[in-house]
Amino acid sequence: MIIAPSILSMDFSSMESQLNQVKEGGAAWLHFDVMDGHFVRNLTFGPDLLKGVRKLSDLVMDVHIMVEDPAYFAPVFMDAGADGITFHIEACKDLDEVRSILAMIRSKNKRAGISLRPQTPIESLYPILDECDMVLIMSVNPGFGGQAFIEDSLKRIAELRDEIQRRGLSVLIEVDGGINKTTGKACQDAGADVLVAGSYVFKNDIPEAIRSLM
Ligand code: DX5
Ligand code: ZN
Repeated sequence: MIIAPSILSMDFSSMESQLNQVKEGGAAWLHFDVMDGHFVRNLTFGPDLLKGVRKLSDLVMDVHIMVEDPAYFAPVFMDAGADGITFHIEACKDLDEVRSILAMIRSKNKRAGISLRPQTPIESLYPILDECDMVLIMSVNPGFGGQAFIEDSLKRIAELRDEIQRRGLSVLIEVDGGINKTTGKACQDAGADVLVAGSYVFKNDIPEAIRSLM
């Protein structure tokens, strides 16, 4: 199980010590929630913070861009040190745009992820499932940490897992939003490979919370 703590809920007054605790807890990835105030009604951080975090941590930088213009911001965050970029299908005008952004990310040898809001049908990404490395299933409406897990997400994870297996693909399933020990286990049982957790990790004992998700 890959755990990706979301720094959205981090106490930014003590970044270095918290990043060390994340590593001590055994997390392999760091989830970086970029929000532009348009695609979601919240504004978080830009490439310069990623450059700073990159200097403090050798974890895999899993960058989730909740922005209106993913074609523009994907390269911006890859140049700032992202190891993977996950963008939203709802921010693209059509599947051709989704395809071109996925290809652009892969052309830089980074992990290409596509994310779906809870209300977007899983089937909408089936035509491009073999062109991405990871699917991020949002289990909360994107925009804020600390929200409650949407139970219907479990069915969506299982449905996607079946489709990936049916087609013999090796696409990772990442789940993001309201993840704690209970919901994390349920997601793992449904077929998730990567769990994102913000408030559950940073509002508790960091290493212990991460270990409880492993
Ligand atoms: C929400 C973000 C999530 C969020 C998760 O839009 O994409 O990554 O930070 O936070 P928790 O784990 O607190 O729900
Ligand atoms: Zn996220």
